[in-house]
Amino acid sequence: MKIYIPLDSAAKAVGADDVADAILLEANTRGLDIEVIRNGTRGMIWLEPLVEIETESGRVGYGIVDVADVPALLDGKLESLGVVEDLDWMKGQTRLTFQRCGITDPLSLTDYEAHGGLTGLRNAIAMTPAGIVEEVTNSGLRGRGGAGFPTGIKWNTVLGAQADQKYIVCNADEGDSGTFADRMIMEGDPFTLIEGMIIAGLAVEATQGYVYLRSEYPDAIDIMEKAVVLARAAGILGADVLGSGRAFDMEIRVGAGAYVCGEETSLLNSLEGKRGVVRAKPPLPALEGFLGKPTVVNNVISLATVPVVMEKGAAHYADFGLGRSKGTMPIQIAGNVKFGGLYETAFGLPLGDLIDKIAGGTLSGRPVKAVQVGGPLGAYMPRSKFDTPFAYEEFDGQGGLIGHAGVVVFDDSTDMLGMARFAMEFCAVESCGKCTPCRIGAVRGVETIDRIGKGDTDAIELLEDLCETMKDGSLCALGGFTPFPVMSALQNFPDDFATKKEAAE
Ligand code: NAI
Ligand code: SF4
Repeated sequence: MKIYIPLDSAAKAVGADDVADAILLEANTRGLDIEVIRNGTRGMIWLEPLVEIETESGRVGYGIVDVADVPALLDGKLESLGVVEDLDWMKGQTRLTFQRCGITDPLSLTDYEAHGGLTGLRNAIAMTPAGIVEEVTNSGLRGRGGAGFPTGIKWNTVLGAQADQKYIVCNADEGDSGTFADRMIMEGDPFTLIEGMIIAGLAVEATQGYVYLRSEYPDAIDIMEKAVVLARAAGILGADVLGSGRAFDMEIRVGAGAYVCGEETSLLNSLEGKRGVVRAKPPLPALEGFLGKPTVVNNVISLATVPVVMEKGAAHYADFGLGRSKGTMPIQIAGNVKFGGLYETAFGLPLGDLIDKIAGGTLSGRPVKAVQVGGPLGAYMPRSKFDTPFAYEEFDGQGGLIGHAGVVVFDDSTDMLGMARFAMEFCAVESCGKCTPCRIGAVRGVETIDRIGKGDTDAIELLEDLCETMKDGSLCALGGFTPFPVMSALQNFPDDFATKKEAAE
């Protein structure tokens, strides 16, 4: 009998390791012949630890499983959720990037290949670099880190640059609040990222890659390092990638923990062993990146999506989505919700459907007040904007951004003035200090919001002015985007700012 228990750190945080140990112990005591497989998570985080038992009709799920449930589980007396693939949460998704996550053993190359792994790489090996770039361009894939820049166009700039050495740098410094897609795929399907990086290397003629991984993700670091060793031993990485005569190798590098190191130029500085401060652009990293050489800097999900694009073809991928937002997005649902987790779907799903139907509304049972989409630099969306389709241009049109697709839900007990203050304080703490609007502006922003909080509503105009300056004058997205949460809180929830004055009077 095969039993699957996630090794994902979200599952481990709620006892998955203890459950796995208890199953092995109980099976041993009973003399049962079972095989425990540690898979990635399916993304239904509210059900973790989710245990699955293989049956003739499919993998049957049990969750939330506690150590005390193990005897009943092995007796067949624990109530099941049914076949996992048939659950509404799973059936409603279009899993392309996460097609294997939660299904396979993350460190089994046999499992990986049996589920379609390496097909994209083999297809890419048969193509010219320009052909691969064209395929990725035609897929419409855009940067999943947040900016949404077309991946194929970025690669084309690097391909066209003349240099003796080029690099692929994967940005795994996932720092947005409420996001975990990068971590989940690195822990649940690491070979997908490796395969995507090799394809990127073949496309732009880069022979060396780095994953810049945040130190707060020890499990992802461990799994990625093991996966690189396995891929090298299998001839997937190295001087002769799968016998193609082309070389590509990679290393995992661990960051020391700074939000701004997720900004690509700051990340490159950190990777070079320098202090993580932002560099002015131009020059673009595509032309002068790591060690001054042409470099593709892509987010984990962008690179991990490339294998399925090359496996199924650009047209297949581009067939999903809405307008210029092609393909699928792994949306990460967090905060005050009943069902938190990762939901991969084609672009275009209305925000309200995501919150009310898929996330099941708030856990507290109170009405939803605001949803912050796109991390700490994303706007707070009120219910009046819940018909906005989840897509780049559509969110932009509503004064928001989808960013890395983190969605954090707040109920009506939330004080939006406090949330605006938090955004400014976050910027002040995380600022790299290079430019004045962000370094000084964020500190003044906290003070100004405190004045409003004490009833000085005249300071609202000052706050608006300050936000304009930060937006226009900051060197990078940290200072430049902090006005999004601040101004959206002010504009969409003016009562939370005005009532302070009433209370003071
Ligand atoms: P950006 O708009 O300056 O650049 C986007 C990307 O396109 C960069 O990699 C840039 O080098 C590249 N690029 C632009 N023109 C190019 C050309 N002609 N050829 C080749 N490459 C070209 O945006 P930036 O500052 O890189 O990212 C801002 C975004 O980051 C925000 O939207 C925010 O949502 C997101 N973000 C994500 C976080 C996360 O944890 N994933 C954390 C913080 C911010
Ligand atoms: Fe540094 Fe802030 Fe300026 Fe970005 S906006 S360069 S984080 S000081």
